[in-house]
Formats: sequence, C-alpha cells, structure tokens
Amino acid sequence: MLNGMRLLVGITGGIAAYKTPYLVRGLVKQGANVRLVMTRNAVHFVAPLTLQTLSGSAVLREMFGTGEGSSMSHIEWAADIHLMMIAPATANFIGKMANGIADDLLSTMILAVEAPILVVPAMNKRMYKNPAVVRNMDVLRGRGVHILEPGIGELACGEEGIGRMADVEEIIRTVRKLMVPSGPLYGKRILVTAGPTVEPIDPVRYIGNRSSGKMGYALAQEARIMGASVTLVSGPTMLVPPQGVNVVQVQTSLEMQEEVRKYFPDVDVLIMAAAVGDFRAESVLPEKIKRGSEPLTLKLVPNPDILKDLSMHRTRQIMIGFAAETGHLMDEARRKMNDKGLDLLVANDVSENGVGFGSDKNRVIIMDRKGGMEETDILPKDQIARKILNHLTRNFL
Ligand code: PMT
Repeated sequence: MLNGMRLLVGITGGIAAYKTPYLVRGLVKQGANVRLVMTRNAVHFVAPLTLQTLSGSAVLREMFGTGEGSSMSHIEWAADIHLMMIAPATANFIGKMANGIADDLLSTMILAVEAPILVVPAMNKRMYKNPAVVRNMDVLRGRGVHILEPGIGELACGEEGIGRMADVEEIIRTVRKLMVPSGPLYGKRILVTAGPTVEPIDPVRYIGNRSSGKMGYALAQEARIMGASVTLVSGPTMLVPPQGVNVVQVQTSLEMQEEVRKYFPDVDVLIMAAAVGDFRAESVLPEKIKRGSEPLTLKLVPNPDILKDLSMHRTRQIMIGFAAETGHLMDEARRKMNDKGLDLLVANDVSENGVGFGSDKNRVIIMDRKGGMEETDILPKDQIARKILNHLTRNFL
C-alpha cells in the first residue's frame, strides 16, 4: 500500500498521456496523495479537469501566473514528496532532464527534487532506439534515476515494437517496490508512542490531557514509509491507524509502560511522542463519586517515567523523547535530554498558537547528544516527523 505517500506525477505530451487518469486513480486507491504537473503539450492528450477530479487537487501547468493551475511554489512542492514520477516521459522531456534544461514548470521542478525519480518513457520504437535518446537515458541512469522500460506491442502510430508506456499495474508495482524496501529505515524496528494517557478516577471520570496523537501517528506513518517495521503504542485518539503499522491501544500510563516494555527489547529505536500522564489517582473508586457541596480532595501518586526507566536498561536502542514546554524551552529540553539519558530530543513550545497539542502543525527544535541542533518552521506534522527521522538516520543509524 502507498498510504500517506506523497507522489508528484509529471505528465508530458505523448499519446500515452490518455492512460494517466487510470494511473492516478490506481495510485489514489492505494492511499497515495497524488499531485500533478502537466506540460503544455500534455494538455492536448488528457484534460486537466479529469486529473484534478481523480487526484482531488489542483493540476499545475504554468510557471508564472495567478490562476488555478499555475504556481510559483514549485520548490515547495518538489521538496515535500516521497517520489517523483514522469509518465509518460517523451523523448524531448528525457533530453531536457539529461541536460538540466529548465524551461517550463515541470522541468524546473525536477531540478529541485531530492526524492527518488521514476521515468516511464513512451514513444515510437525508432525514437526509442535513437542514439541520442539512448545516451540521454544512460545519463539519467548514471544519476540514479529509475527508468521503467516501455513494453513491446502495437504503438499509437500503428507500428509494432518497443515504446508502449508500461501498464498502469506495472507502474504501480514499481512505485511500491521503490518506496518500501529501499527506504532509509528498511530493516529497522521502531517503537513509537502517541496520544494521551487517561487515568481513571471513578467509572465515569478520568484525568487526561490535550494530546490528539497526531504527532506520534505522523512519526509512525513516516517511519513506515521510510521502510521501517513500526509498532505504535497509542493512548485513546480519534485517528485512523496508519496502514502497515502494528497498533497497540492502551488507556493508562501503566498500560503504556507495560506495552512499551514488552516491545522494547526487540527494537532499534524508541520514540516517545505520547503525552504520558505524570500522576494517577491513588485509588480508583468503584462507583461514581456523588456530587456534594464539600470540596473533593483527590490523592494523586506519580506514574513511572517510562522513558527514563527504559534508558537505564537499554542495550543498543536509540532513545528519542519529546519535551512539551511552556517556557525556558532550550534549558528544559537540555535538562530532560540529560536526565532521561536520551540520544535525541524534540522540543516543542506548546504555548505557541497553532502548534503542539491538537494542531495539524508543529514547530520543533531537534537536539541530539552529539551537539547537533535543527530548528524547524511551523510545518505540517508529517513534515516535522520526516525531519526528525532524517536527523535520526543521518546521525545515529
Ligand atoms: O498529540 P498531539 O496533539 O499531536 O501533540 C503533540 C505533543 C505536543 C503531545 C508532542 O509533540 C509532545 O510534545 N509529546 C511529549 C509530551 C510530554 O509528555 O512531554 P514531557 O515534557 O512531559 O515528557 C518528556 C518525555 O518523557 C516525553 O517523551 C514523554 O513521552 C516522556 N514521559 C513523560 C512522562 C512519563 N511518565 N513517562 C515518559 O516516558
């Protein structure tokens, strides 16, 4: 499955472009977020509106301009993807790619892409065998671009031979192959915690917190996309579990601790994004506490510090914690990193508007025990997750 993957699909001006609605539909069905960019010539073969409807997002066409289908945000789009695909790729477009020509939106975007690129050529058989095209494709292969060879059969021009764009099913299979097994976290086992914990007081009341689980779920999903085998221990949330992730539901801090301890010995990395309740009621009353006019006193006892306890018993695990602060962010973050024996700490100021608890976005400082530090802008949580995991892979794996 391609759940949550962000694919940028470039469509160039060949007759095989008529197959792209099926391709887009297939990718979307697999759970991918598909964004589309068309060249001017591609528009002759397939209607942008069809693709827009199937992908659910605007189709970009022009480098400059203000209307729909035009964009100056090509750098942002190019930076925010897991895979770029050109399908169909014409001989002309392959030539432009090989030579770094950036004379329209799509060819300019390609130069800003750091994610893997898949080229799906389609053209007449004699064009495909032309030495210039063969050389251009070799140049691209030499740069690590993946090329899905065209099929043999009847071509749009009526001739028989090599040049038909690969079937939609084969393209989707190739995308899946490229995404998971080659990810930078392939072979790694990652345990993520997310959400709040709830500490019961009586059968109807509990002590909870404002965590929605979005940050932890984004980490689990991104780690999966990057090839890791992921277990997510989650407190109660309203979120849909990420595809391909082993999800374990818990309620209380003690249950979270029990599950994390169970999985911990077998994992390479622990990421504690959960907002674990620091206190629980000393005793949970068996019946609903009746309302009265007297003040009610609850005795709370501290919960164990899951992260700190485990970091004292770790063998090889990389430990990542979060710090949710409302002031003295850096000082508190450094203190927590040392106190809990962490390799990496993600600090967020949860008093800032529009980030932190419950929000779709966050702004964090990633710091590590080697002295590395990275500050982010306010970004969607999946992008924050990607930055944390990239920091992890670059510095610790
Ligand atoms: O869930 P969202 O709505 O998306 O919000 C995201 C978030 C704000 C919850 C997340 O970004 C975050 O900051 N998570 C950690 C919240 C927290 O409990 O921070 P803390 O500073 O109190 O704890 C420090 C670290 O110790 C955390 O990694 C925490 O998981 C861990 N901890 C805390 C208490 C405890 N008893 N055991 C622990 O292991």
